[in-house]
Amino acid sequence: MADISASFAGLSLRKCIYNASGARSMTPEELAALGNSEAGAILTKSCTLLPREGNPEPRYQDLEWGSLNSMGLPNLGYEKYIELSPELKKYGKPVFASVSGLSLEDNMKIIEAMNASEFDAVELNLSCPNIPGKPQVGYDFEDTEKYLEEISAICRKPLGLKLPPYFDFAHFEQMAGIIKKFRVRFLSCINAIGNALVIDSEKEIVIIKPKGGFGGLGGRYIKPAALANVRKFHELLPDIPIIGVGGIFTGRDVFEFVLAGATAVQLGTVLMQEGTSCFGRVARELEEIMDKKGYPSLERFRGKLKVIE
Ligand SMILES: Cc1cc2nc3c(=O)[nH]c(=O)nc-3n(C[C@H](O)[C@H](O)[C@H](O)COP(=O)(O)O)c2cc1C
Repeated sequence: MADISASFAGLSLRKCIYNASGARSMTPEELAALGNSEAGAILTKSCTLLPREGNPEPRYQDLEWGSLNSMGLPNLGYEKYIELSPELKKYGKPVFASVSGLSLEDNMKIIEAMNASEFDAVELNLSCPNIPGKPQVGYDFEDTEKYLEEISAICRKPLGLKLPPYFDFAHFEQMAGIIKKFRVRFLSCINAIGNALVIDSEKEIVIIKPKGGFGGLGGRYIKPAALANVRKFHELLPDIPIIGVGGIFTGRDVFEFVLAGATAVQLGTVLMQEGTSCFGRVARELEEIMDKKGYPSLERFRGKLKVIE
């Protein structure tokens, strides 16, 4: 049977597939379910300084090809996740904290506290599209550099970044140039495509309440954009492991992300729709494809996407 283990940021995952932040990863019960599942790691919902209720409902809708959400970072507050961290370690897999403070100062406070936690690594979310009045840090290159300067100076856990999708080669290069200056141990690409609009034409109405119906698009709609971001950052930053996220529903999807250069992958919308059984199913589908193709491990085809000469 093919080996689908992965290692990055000094951590070993028995399987390269785990949850995306925010999908069934907020409550102690949800995190325990991830621990008991076949997910290769546990990643928390993005936490803020204080607990948050998030945006008014309806704020998540399944769509034929994915999902639309404007959750607004509902979470239990960073202290609760730190308190849960020893419990989460008992499942014997790496445990990641997603951090999404609402300001640089908030992030500094949270990261400082994370240093003394049982978390194995931190995924700093620079790309939440759903906070009314707050633009995504990852789209402001000056702010991103300032955040990284300050945060990487105090973070003693392996630090990764959750990035928004970029759509222009100049922006990929600008972001890669900034990331290179700091000790970033992994990149998770991509967050939902922000501020998408879905309309119920029968009722002539939007489908979620916050922000006049604008929300983050996930699922199959965004897979090509996610693959492109993984590919581009893998080309520009070959020494930084890239975690692929966006539209992964099957083992074939994972295979394509690894071909594009991903070291591991995260499941978001499919976890919302199918529950934690998706991890085992997708893993088995990936193993089957690798066995058929004669690839004993992910290294054999990682990044080896061919182009048409
Ligand atoms: C309900 C929901 C909540 C999310 N919350 C977060 C979050 O707190 N932090 C974050 O970095 N991404 C969050 N995301 C984005 C996902 O982690 C992921 O990047 C995105 O949904 C694309 O993956 P997918 O196509 O598999 O859904 C959320 C997505 C959904 C559907």
